[in-house]
Amino acid sequence: LWLAVGIRRRNPGEPPVENGLIPYLGCALQFGANPLQFLRSRQKKYGHIFTCKIAGQYFHFLCDPFSYHAVIRQGRHLDWMKFHFATSVKVFGHDSFDPRHGYTTENLHQTFLKTLQGEALPSLIDAMMGHLQDIMLDSDTVRPCAERWQVDGIFVFCYKVMFESGYLTLFGKELGRDKPQARQAAQRALVLNALENFKEFDKIFPALVAGLPIHVFKSAHSARENLAKTMHADNLSNRENVSDLISMRMILNDSLSTFNDISKARTHVALLWASQANTLPATFWSLFYLIRSPDAMKAAREEVQKVLQSTGQQAEPNGPRLTLTREELDNMHVLDSVIKEAMRLSSASMNVRIAKENFLLHLDNQEAYQIRKDDVIALYPPMLHFDPEIFEDPYEYKYDRFLDEDGQEKNTFFRGGRRLRYYYMPFGSGVTKCPGRFFAIHEIKQFLTLALSYFEMELLDPLVKVPPLDQSRAGLGILQPTYDVDFRYKLKSRP
Ligand code: HEM
Repeated sequence: LWLAVGIRRRNPGEPPVENGLIPYLGCALQFGANPLQFLRSRQKKYGHIFTCKIAGQYFHFLCDPFSYHAVIRQGRHLDWMKFHFATSVKVFGHDSFDPRHGYTTENLHQTFLKTLQGEALPSLIDAMMGHLQDIMLDSDTVRPCAERWQVDGIFVFCYKVMFESGYLTLFGKELGRDKPQARQAAQRALVLNALENFKEFDKIFPALVAGLPIHVFKSAHSARENLAKTMHADNLSNRENVSDLISMRMILNDSLSTFNDISKARTHVALLWASQANTLPATFWSLFYLIRSPDAMKAAREEVQKVLQSTGQQAEPNGPRLTLTREELDNMHVLDSVIKEAMRLSSASMNVRIAKENFLLHLDNQEAYQIRKDDVIALYPPMLHFDPEIFEDPYEYKYDRFLDEDGQEKNTFFRGGRRLRYYYMPFGSGVTKCPGRFFAIHEIKQFLTLALSYFEMELLDPLVKVPPLDQSRAGLGILQPTYDVDFRYKLKSRP
């Protein structure tokens, strides 16, 4: 009977199991309504590890941070590729990247490391800094002036500035023989179009991950395909200053895969999504908390002023553009902490591995549990991020939480008197850790540095409440606010 209704019985040595009340869905609805609350209540009941059926699959949630290592290190029992590659195929519609499926021999992981980190970073940073200033100071997107305040939603503002700059940084600008002005207008129309398509597609992202087929969502489907059309090789080869990431992926698509043209284009849409979907809300939360906290604002302004002074630069909207090297950005520890704290409060990415075979998972407290082949093992970092033993008053924004007494990066955090190796995980962990994380932090820092250098900014309502997190994306990354918050900005007037 158990088998007939798809319910699992707990075998000896296995974690406690909850099948939920609804066939197939299991605990999906309770989990989805508020994952943190759901997991906390089960942790209280069952302890460090328990199993829940969610949408037909069994998830083992590991809640003891001292045992995370058992999952994060690349053990031979755990597969990280299966889930990631299958999700990407489901959502973006390209052929599989899993070399075992025979469509490509590209080692995607290596491509990402080579083109997003180390020597590849300075040119990404350089391009981003240029685009950000073009858009903040010299485009129809923002149009600030010194005489009068402009009002906008913080989310809308961050979205349009970061999307356009990030898009141009990765995908370059169209080559053209037209006059510069006409070319600029065509360029902007293309990016705005991409932004609208991206928004439309991104709305249904959680539904696609959950397994709903894209053709159910007509406008989102055509939005994804419109994006893919702009990323056909013919169109991309018509662009200049394309990033190493995209140029290398084009070459490897052509040389190592049997993907057809549309599949190739869809792999670029996947990268557009990866590069924007988390960065946009992370930028929102960073700017929102910064404007809302006078202490944070003061410390950040001082840091920005110091770096400009030490590099002999002045922020003049009509003067030379500001430039900052990777090292200069790396040394901005206040902004680093401002961003980290904003992401601690808004991140909800789930870390997932799949069991390749039946095996015994050893926890830090010497207990061991039987895990079945094809089960999912999941870590949910918000359990750390909102743990009051690790972060005092965890629901409060403290801009300097990640600064030590010397104003450097703080990386010692404890639980029950023991130092934690894992306490902050918005970028995932181990081999699947976000390869774009260094660029992501740099681009948000650049955005904040420029906003603080060129603009006065104020909340329209200084006492505005923090908007709740939109939980519909829980598990997938940085959560968006459920509503936008208005602010006003103008160019700083020179003394
Ligand atoms: C994957 C977070 C920005 C490129 C991921 C993952 C997370 C993440 C949680 C999945 C890790 C896992 O499954 O365990 C973030 C956050 C960002 C950000 C919070 C911004 C605040 C970026 C940027 C880029 C990027 C700017 C590229 C320019 C990627 C790629 C992957 C990825 C390519 C897939 C890696 C793979 O499957 O091997 N990111 N990301 N991300 N991210 Fe990011």
